[in-house]
Amino acid sequence: MSFFPSRWQRYLLLGLLWLCCSSLGWGLALALELPSLPGPVAQVTLPEALPSPGGIPANARPVDPIPSRYQPGFEAYLETCAGCHIALPPEVLPLESWQQILRRPDKHFGTTIPNLNRLTQLLIWDYVSTFSRPLPPNTPVPLYAEKSRFFKALHPRVDLPSDMTVKSCVACHPNVAQFDFRTLTPEWLDKE
Ligand code: HEC
Ligand code: HEC
Repeated sequence: MSFFPSRWQRYLLLGLLWLCCSSLGWGLALALELPSLPGPVAQVTLPEALPSPGGIPANARPVDPIPSRYQPGFEAYLETCAGCHIALPPEVLPLESWQQILRRPDKHFGTTIPNLNRLTQLLIWDYVSTFSRPLPPNTPVPLYAEKSRFFKALHPRVDLPSDMTVKSCVACHPNVAQFDFRTLTPEWLDKE
């Protein structure tokens, strides 16, 4: 007879404890405004080159290493400038060329560069101006890599074709789509 009430007491205690804990958890969730978790992610086909967070290809191999301070500019550059053609490395053109291109997005080789607001312009400028060099005074400003002395200086071994465009780079640089200008086609590897 004596154990019957104590079992009841135990149930009552457990019940109270459960009520207390669940309402506490509910209260906490409300207080922290926990966001609802997203549902299962649909299966998507991933592209060959997985972009790392922020749109910079994981296997990018820029000419000069890009310190983290310039990563936002590099990211903005890739986002804004790699839509119609490959993104050229800033090193191949003089500072003045990048300046002219960024100043006139509405007169860009017969087209208009979209999404180039003031912030994006400044971010890109921060990056391209750091990785390009100025021309000597009174020198014509090249708008094509083909006409740039810096581009030629980066190609000491190459007899560059006269009809070079942004589309020709891939012939010798197979991974330009990933901003890799250091990997060369096999024909260039054995030559010194
Ligand atoms: C709406 C499409 C479009 C976008 C976006 C775009 N460009 Fe271009 N760009 C062109 C076209 C078209 C050409 C001319 C290509 C040709 O003549 O072969 C060109 C050519 C160039 C060239 C000369 C390439 C060479 O042959 O040496 C440079 C440099 C260049 N763009 C830089 C940029 C930069 C920097 C941005 C971003 C701020 C950008 N482009 C965004 C369309 C675009
Ligand atoms: C005919 C082949 C060929 C073409 C076309 C070509 N390149 Fe190159 N590029 C090379 C070779 C080879 C090197 C290595 C330097 C050398 O041996 O002269 C090189 C080196 C470079 C480098 C220096 C890489 C580093 O970090 O050492 C850059 C940047 C570059 N090329 C950019 C370009 C761009 C941009 C284009 C297109 C506008 C282009 N190249 C077109 C063959 C080519």
